[in-house]
Amino acid sequence: MSQSRHLTRRGFLGGSALVGAGAAAAAAGAAVVSHESSDGPSGSAAAPVSFYGAHQSGIDTAAQDRLAFAAFDLTTTSRSDVQDLLREWTKASIAMAAGSLVPGDSSSLVAPPADTGEALGLPPAALTITAGLGPSLFDHRFGLDGRRPAALADIPTLPRDQLDPTRSHGDIGIQACSNDPQVAFHAIRNLARIGRDVVTMRWSQLGFGRTSSTSTAQATPRNLLGFKDGTRNIRAEDTTDMDSYVWVGTETDQPWMRGGSYLVTRRIRMHIEGWDRDFLQDQEEVIGRVKVSGAPLGGTAEFDVPNFTAKASDGTPVIPLDAHVHLAAHENNGGLRILRRGYSFTDGTDAATGELDAGLFFICYQKDPRTQFVPLQRRLGLNDRLNEYIEHTSSAVFACPPGIRTSSDYWASSLFT
Ligand code: HEM
Repeated sequence: MSQSRHLTRRGFLGGSALVGAGAAAAAAGAAVVSHESSDGPSGSAAAPVSFYGAHQSGIDTAAQDRLAFAAFDLTTTSRSDVQDLLREWTKASIAMAAGSLVPGDSSSLVAPPADTGEALGLPPAALTITAGLGPSLFDHRFGLDGRRPAALADIPTLPRDQLDPTRSHGDIGIQACSNDPQVAFHAIRNLARIGRDVVTMRWSQLGFGRTSSTSTAQATPRNLLGFKDGTRNIRAEDTTDMDSYVWVGTETDQPWMRGGSYLVTRRIRMHIEGWDRDFLQDQEEVIGRVKVSGAPLGGTAEFDVPNFTAKASDGTPVIPLDAHVHLAAHENNGGLRILRRGYSFTDGTDAATGELDAGLFFICYQKDPRTQFVPLQRRLGLNDRLNEYIEHTSSAVFACPPGIRTSSDYWASSLFT
C-alpha cells in the first residue's frame, strides 16, 4: 500500500498544541490571534501571531524567547528578481507564521520538498518574521537610488567600534523570532532556500533569551551580566511613545516607509570572565541599578523612577554619572528613546583566549537612527563605564517597510510602484 506523504505542521487549531489563552481563543473560534492582541503571556507561547497589520509583526509584538537573524546580499542585478524574491518570501512567511508548511510541493518523490521539514509537528510558537532593506540595496544596481530614505544612512564609525565587516551590513535583513528555536531557524533556512538563486547569506546570528520586554504583560528578563534588562523600555501599549519614537510618520522623505521603522543591530561581545571577577558594588555602579531587584540605585523597587540628582552623604551622585543608565536615560541624553528588542547569544569559545564568545545581540527600532541610535551610542561609546566589559563586533541598519494587509501584498511593494 502506498504511504501518505501529505505533510502538515501541528496547527494551532489542531488541538494538541493548545494551551492556556491559546486554547480559549481557539474555542472562541478565533482562527488567528491578531498581533495587536497577542501579548505573549505564558499560555500563548505556542499560538500564532498575525502576520498582517499596519506595521510588521516582530517590532511591537511581545518579544519571544528565541531569535534567528540573517543578513543577505543580492547576487542578481535585476529589479524584478528583487520584487519576485520579496513576493515569494512574504508568501512563505505568511504560511510559516500561521504554522503551515512553506507553499509548494513537499510530497513529490522526484523533487526536493518545498518545505525543509524540521518544523513538522511544531506549533507556530509565536513566530514573527520581520524584513528590512539595507542601505546597499539602494545603490545603482536596481535603479532605486532615488527611493533611499535619508534616515537609512550608513551608521558612521562610532567610538570604540571593533566591527567585523564580514558580519556587518547586508542588502536585506530578516529577523525571525519565536518561542521555539527550531521554528525560528526553520524560517530563516526556508527563506534562504527560496532565495538561493538571487541571494547569498552574508551573516547570521542565533539568540537565546530575550533581553527586553516590549509589552507591559511581560516580566523583565535578565541579560548575561545578570541584570534585569528592559525595565525602562518603550512598551507596545505606550502608543504615543511608539508614534513619537518608533513608527515612521509623515515626516519621512519617502512615503513608502510610512508605518515602518528602522532597525539597528549590534553584536556586542561581553567580556564575561572579567565581569565575573568584579565586586557586586562595582557591577551595580556600572549599570546604575541594584542587581537582584533591578531598582535604580537609591530606589527600592524595579519600576521606581531613577533619581539622577540624588547625592550620597559624601556628595557623590548615587547613580554615577558614567553609569550605563545615567548616560542612556532620556532625562539626561536630550530626550532620545529607542525600542530595544535584543537577545543574548553565545557562539562557543574564542580560540585565541579560551574565553566565552558571548554577549548581547542588541536590536533596536526607531524613527530615525541618525537622531536616535547614533547619538546615543556615541555618548555610550565615549563615556559608559560598561565599556570596560563589552565590545561592539558587528553593526547593521535596515529600513523595515510597513506591514502588509492582504495575502496578495508583499514586503516593500510600495517601494517599487
Ligand atoms: C552589552 C551591552 C548592554 C548591556 C549589558 C545593557 C544593559 C542595560 C541594563 C541592565 C539596563 C537597565 C534596565 C532597563 O531600563 O532596561 C539598560 C538600560 C538601557 N540601555 Fe542598555 N545595555 C547595553 C547596550 C546598550 C546600547 C548599545 C544602547 C543604545 C545605544 C542601550 C540603551 C539603553 C537604554 C536607552 C536604556 C534605558 C535607560 C533608562 O531610561 O533608564 N544599551 N541597559
